[in-house]
Amino acid sequence: MGFDTRILKADEEGIRLAAELLRKGEIVAIPTETVYGLAGNAFSADSARKIYAAKGRPSDNPLIVHIAQLEEVEKLTREFPEIARRCAERFWPGPLTMVLPKSEAVPFEITGGLDTVGIRFPANKAASEVIKAAGSPLAAPSANRSGRPSPTCAMHVFNDLKGRIPLIIDGDGSAVGVESTVISFENETIRLLRPGFVTPDDLREVSDNVIVDDGVLNCVADNARVSSPGMKYRHYSPKAEVIILDGDIKGFEEYIRKNAGKSDCCVVFTGDRLSVENPTMEYGHNSKEQAAMLFSVLRELDKQGFERAYFRCPDKNGVGLAVYNRLLRAASFRVVKL
Ligand code: TXA
Ligand code: MG
Repeated sequence: MGFDTRILKADEEGIRLAAELLRKGEIVAIPTETVYGLAGNAFSADSARKIYAAKGRPSDNPLIVHIAQLEEVEKLTREFPEIARRCAERFWPGPLTMVLPKSEAVPFEITGGLDTVGIRFPANKAASEVIKAAGSPLAAPSANRSGRPSPTCAMHVFNDLKGRIPLIIDGDGSAVGVESTVISFENETIRLLRPGFVTPDDLREVSDNVIVDDGVLNCVADNARVSSPGMKYRHYSPKAEVIILDGDIKGFEEYIRKNAGKSDCCVVFTGDRLSVENPTMEYGHNSKEQAAMLFSVLRELDKQGFERAYFRCPDKNGVGLAVYNRLLRAASFRVVKL
């Protein structure tokens, strides 16, 4: 720590410097198509410790390992079952993380003590180039301070991690905007641990048996044993109290008129007609746009210092399930049915 944090474009010089730092055991923030990641050598316990320290993250919350070639799965796992190969063929490179039995080469510091490892093959060009130039798969959680919304541009990373890391690679904005879909396997069954851009219906193209884990829509107790440890942490907690209002825009308007205070903000769909006196923000027309915008809207709420933010509830299907899952956590599961 105590770094003079640089931001470089994802050009030749940027990629070269990132790779050089990673080879020396340093950690570097890189763009991916989902959110920015804070990357370190996936075979190094020391890199893992640096990542946890920079983020202020509990060390039992496992990191995702990023690859740039399918063959790298062999080095990382004891077993690459047929169903996982089919998922790789269908969704990689892309926003899908698969939890598989880890090989001995992957230190427990990377997996938060688990005997499994989450693996993802990102589609982002800069991410691929950095992984290849570093010469090793890279462990990378989202590049936010623990408890803050995930970063979807280089400035979000800078605001959270300046002074704590040497370099941020500034690539394209993160088009997907929410973190990858995380799945695990039980024979021919796919268990959805964290929803993302790859939806349950997409997964059903690979297997008829797709189970949505209880933790996706329910609050998991702090001391519970869960299949995906990330689910138990309080995530994305803005300073404002977030409340989800589940219903149509008419009901939303009535609720705000009756209940909202002067310094409360409304966050509705783009195109919603809402006539209230409260300040209002929009977060996209549809689920894909909402996924892309959600985290910057949460950061904007913090900046403006609202006491409370009422969100119009997103659609809970398709990519909307990922938006709803993140928003539920930002709202600490406060939902009002209208
Ligand atoms: O899109 C993404 O996945 C981004 C970008 C940077 O690739 N990364 C990301 O990492 O979101 P992170 O650390 O913020 O979230 C990783 C989550 C963990 O909280 C955990 O729930 C799950 O993935 N996970 C990772 N390894 C796991 C494992 N071995 N078993 C179960 N869940 C795991
Ligand atoms: Mg994260």
